[in-house]
Amino acid sequence: MKVSDRTYFTLKRLHSLTGVVPVGLFLLEHLWTNARALQGPEAFDQAAADLARLPFVVLIEAFGIWLPILFHMVLGILITTTAQANLGKHGYARNWQYVLQRASGILLVFYLFYHTWALRFAGGYLTSSSPYHYVNEHLANPAVMAFYVLGTLAACYHFGNGLFGFAIHWGIATGRGAQNAAARLGLLVFLALSALGLAALLGFRGLRLDFLQKPHAQEHGTIVLSGGSR
Ligand code: HEM
Repeated sequence: MKVSDRTYFTLKRLHSLTGVVPVGLFLLEHLWTNARALQGPEAFDQAAADLARLPFVVLIEAFGIWLPILFHMVLGILITTTAQANLGKHGYARNWQYVLQRASGILLVFYLFYHTWALRFAGGYLTSSSPYHYVNEHLANPAVMAFYVLGTLAACYHFGNGLFGFAIHWGIATGRGAQNAAARLGLLVFLALSALGLAALLGFRGLRLDFLQKPHAQEHGTIVLSGGSR
């Protein structure tokens, strides 16, 4: 199908925008919620229940997450399959970024379908009494865990490096200095989100980081204050 230059430009802009809002924002929220697993089964199950109880939650998911991801994914596949790989020509860091952006996107197609089916639509998950324990058993299979590690790293790289592309495409980083800064920021986002995402995966397998909690996070009974009068 042929599209006019103007339509192509608009679609590219929409593709770029959906990568950050709402898909990128959803990724941030998702990794943050998953990090509740580091505080134990009750904390994660409570966070999952809070989300499930949001008003109109299925509409929010459909129009705020699934449709935008599907749009970004379909256009992403078209962009990738018509792309000119330029690694052999230069081998500069930017060319690697270009190739890795597309390779991580393709890996995400498989990962997102598998992950969404397994932990959003599979009957066993929907009827499980504890989402935490369901995910705990799901990740007990080393092959599944390896795929989640790969998928998490791919999503974090794709989003971090995507922010760099976004800054260029929307004219936010124009000069060489600004583009280098955007590339460094993208790398930082990738590393920070990867640490958060991988820690959350280990949280589902029992890792606790209680030393990072403030004392008031612990469960305690009624506190009785007593003291004399002055
Ligand atoms: C976790 C899910 C995803 C997030 C958060 C995400 C985010 C982003 C962001 C922020 C960009 C940068 C936009 C720009 O360069 O202006 C981008 C670019 C891109 N995404 Fe995604 N994306 C996701 C999934 C996918 C999937 C599944 C594909 C399928 C192939 C894909 C393919 C692409 C491609 C090809 C580009 C580069 C576009 C270009 O340089 O013209 N993305 N993505």
